[in-house]
Amino acid sequence: MPLTPMRQILDEAAKKKYGVGAYNVNNMEQIQAIMKAAKETKSPVIIQASHGALEYSNMIYLKKLMEAAAEENPEIPVAMHLDHGPNLKTVKAAIALGFSSVMIDGSLDYDTKTAGGAHPARTFEDNIRVTKEVVDYAHGFGVSVEGELGTLGGIEDDTHAEAVHLTDPEQCEEFCRRTGVDALAIAIGTSHGAYKFKAEPKLAMDLVKEIHQRVPNVRLVMHGSSSVPAALVDEVNKYGGKLEKTMGVPVKAIQEAVGLGINKINVDTDGRLVITAAIRKVFFEKPKEFDPRKYLGPAREALTKLIAERMVEFGTAGHAGDYQPLSLAEMKVIYAAGASGGCGGCGCGKKH
Ligand code: G3H
Ligand code: 13P
Ligand code: ZN
Repeated sequence: MPLTPMRQILDEAAKKKYGVGAYNVNNMEQIQAIMKAAKETKSPVIIQASHGALEYSNMIYLKKLMEAAAEENPEIPVAMHLDHGPNLKTVKAAIALGFSSVMIDGSLDYDTKTAGGAHPARTFEDNIRVTKEVVDYAHGFGVSVEGELGTLGGIEDDTHAEAVHLTDPEQCEEFCRRTGVDALAIAIGTSHGAYKFKAEPKLAMDLVKEIHQRVPNVRLVMHGSSSVPAALVDEVNKYGGKLEKTMGVPVKAIQEAVGLGINKINVDTDGRLVITAAIRKVFFEKPKEFDPRKYLGPAREALTKLIAERMVEFGTAGHAGDYQPLSLAEMKVIYAAGASGGCGGCGCGKKH
C-alpha cells in the first residue's frame, strides 16, 4: 500500500469539514501507536517527521518504518510529511525517501543565524521564491507542499501572541497564487512546545475565517496545536518530572478553528508528554525494571489512547474508507495538467 498524497487527505477533509491531525514521529513506537489509533478509529492520518527526526533516525529507518506502517494498514490513507523543511536540500532528501508531502518553512531563513543564534525571518518575496522552487520540484513527483506565512511565537509572555507574529490575510492570495502551494500554515497566536500560554488563550479565529474565504482551495494548517492537558503535566510531575504550570490550545478552540477552515492540525508536544509520563511512572513504581519493552510498551499504549481521542475530537474518525487513495503518479499527472491549487469545486484537482 503506497503512501497517500496529503493534498487528497486534506481535500477530502475540507469537503466534509473535519480536521486531520499531523502527528510527529521519531521512532517505531510512535509510528505503531499512531497507526493503531488510526485503525481503531478508522481515521486517515498524516504522520510527520522534522529535519531533527530525520537526522535522529538516520533517515532510512523512518523510511522503512513508514513503509511497514502503510503495508500493515492498507485500509488507512496515510501521508508521510516533512515537517518544517528548512530548505530545498532537505525537501529533496525527503522526496527521495518516498515522503508523499513536504513543508517548506520559508518564513525563516534556516541556513542563516543571527548573532543571537536565531534564524532571521525571510521577506515575503524571499519566502515566495524558496517556496515556489520547492513546489516546482515536489509537484514533479506528485508530492504535496505546505508553505508558511507569518511566524509562530516562541514562549508567550501573555495569553496570545503579539500581532507581529500573525499571518497577514492580505498576503495569502498573492502567496498562494504565485507559489501554487497545496496547504498553508498560518499563524493565529499558537506557538510550539509545552509553554504556550499562562491562561486560556484567545486565538485569532477571525483570521482563519478571512484567510479561508480568500484562499478557499488551499488547505489551512494550524501548528502548535498541542493542548498540554493539566492532568498530563501533573502526571509527569507526580513521577519525578519538574514541568512548570502551563496551558496549551484547548480542544474546543481547535474544533472552532476546524469549523472556520483549518484542516491540518499539528500535534507533537502532547505525544511527548504522554510518553514521558508513562515511562516515568514505570521507573517510579518499578525502579528495578530495566527491560525497555516494559516501559516503551506502556508509553506506546498511552500514546495510542491519546491519539485515538484526538482523532475523535478533530472529527477524523470514521473517514478512512470514504475514498480511494490516489498514487503519487496520479497526482503528478494532475499537477502537470495545471490543476494544482484545486479544481475550484472541492479543490481536489480532479475533473468532475
Ligand atoms: O514543530 C516542531 C516539531 O515539534 C518537531 O520538533 O524539531 O524537535 O523534532 P523537533
Ligand atoms: P506542538 O508543539 O504544539 O505539539 O506543535 C507541533 C507542531 O506544530 C509541529 O509542526
Ligand atoms: Zn510546527
